[in-house]
Amino acid sequence: MIKSNSLAIIGAQWGDEGKGKIVDFFCKYADGCVRFQGGPNAGHTVVFDDKRVIFHQLPSGLTHSHLKGYIASGCIIDLEVLKNEIEELKNLGIDIKNRIFVDYRCHLIFPFHKEIDKKREELKKGVKIGTTQKGIGPCYEDKYQRIGIRIGDLKDFSLFSEKLKQEFLRKNYLLMEIYEVPPISEKSYLNFVKENREFFLSLITDVSKEVYEELKKGKKIIFEGAQGTLLDINFGTYPYVTSSSTIAGSISGQVGIPFNFIEEVIGVCKAYTTRVGEGPFPTELTNEIGKYLQEKGKEFGATTGRKRRCGWFDCGIIRYAKRINGFEKLIITKIDILSGLNELKIANGYIYEGNEIDEFIPELAYHLEPKYLELKPFNQDFNKVKSYKDFDEEVLEFLNTIERLTGCEIWAVSIGEKREDIIFKY
Ligand code: IMP
Ligand code: MG
Repeated sequence: MIKSNSLAIIGAQWGDEGKGKIVDFFCKYADGCVRFQGGPNAGHTVVFDDKRVIFHQLPSGLTHSHLKGYIASGCIIDLEVLKNEIEELKNLGIDIKNRIFVDYRCHLIFPFHKEIDKKREELKKGVKIGTTQKGIGPCYEDKYQRIGIRIGDLKDFSLFSEKLKQEFLRKNYLLMEIYEVPPISEKSYLNFVKENREFFLSLITDVSKEVYEELKKGKKIIFEGAQGTLLDINFGTYPYVTSSSTIAGSISGQVGIPFNFIEEVIGVCKAYTTRVGEGPFPTELTNEIGKYLQEKGKEFGATTGRKRRCGWFDCGIIRYAKRINGFEKLIITKIDILSGLNELKIANGYIYEGNEIDEFIPELAYHLEPKYLELKPFNQDFNKVKSYKDFDEEVLEFLNTIERLTGCEIWAVSIGEKREDIIFKY
């Protein structure tokens, strides 16, 4: 199923492309799965044997009992989320012993990061980002200010407590003086860490070295992107982005492996477009069709429960994501949601100030007028589709049009959310 030893699975839109299901699918054939950026802002849904798990902090492949899951140095960790998620897996009967590896360099998200994230958004007058309020921005800020605390610091608990108490003091001052909210006590948090310290220590390792050695041995590793290309801190629709780099090129730097160890990159995109949170969205549908996609596609944020904004498939975005990430192959998800509409469109480039533009330009995103192509709508019962040739003519036309306009080959089409419902082209 996977020819190369290392495969990166990257979101080509604004996240929520259905990467969780795809990562989980490929992990059956892999030895390891690596999260390389972000934190519990991610929400990767995996459905198997009538069970459903939403991974926020852990790699999505862990329901496969043979697989090792890695959280690399580019990630940030909320220890409470991590612990709960591991408990959840255990409760599902999934053994995680010696299967989870966390890089000692990962920075930690503390209760004050979440509070600052919340309050900052609440008090903003102009540009609200609509963050997940998981403390992502404030934690990465501390990392880059070089005042962050890393999971590896747990090794010396007295030093860790000392550092953290200092940080609580500083952040409480900010919360009281700027945000006018009561301070947060460090006591209960420190108790939680103390009680679980041995367990967390048992997970810590040098993921950079572990993954390097696995790849050297010829093991197969999946690199699991979180969020999507247009949420990348550099190449997304800034400032409506997340605080980490989500693109394929940043994997080596965030995991700590040579760049030429990433052999293949795949782009994942929905058969339409969604975005959760604020920011530009050229093909957004604020009409009945948008509502239909939102409801039928159950487009609610897996982390925050917020309604996702929905719109037509946008080839300009895929061209951009293709160039930035270097993928040639696409996996299209949730094709079944488009079934039954009486209108079907794809955006192929834009008009900007009277000129035609092929590729999405984040900087101009608010002013890009999509050029639409009308396609024949389809109404197929996808339960009966077992191979690519079973798709109705109109569905094939939709898929072929995407291939032609994006210059990407469609590798597979995913239907619904069950693990086995994925149709490969070859
Ligand atoms: P943050 O990552 O919580 O700071 O949120 C920044 C922006 O990224 C907001 O628009 C969020 O809705 C969006 N975002 C963050 N994580 C995800 C995700 O996993 N899927 C979709 N959108 C996300
Ligand atoms: Mg998600």
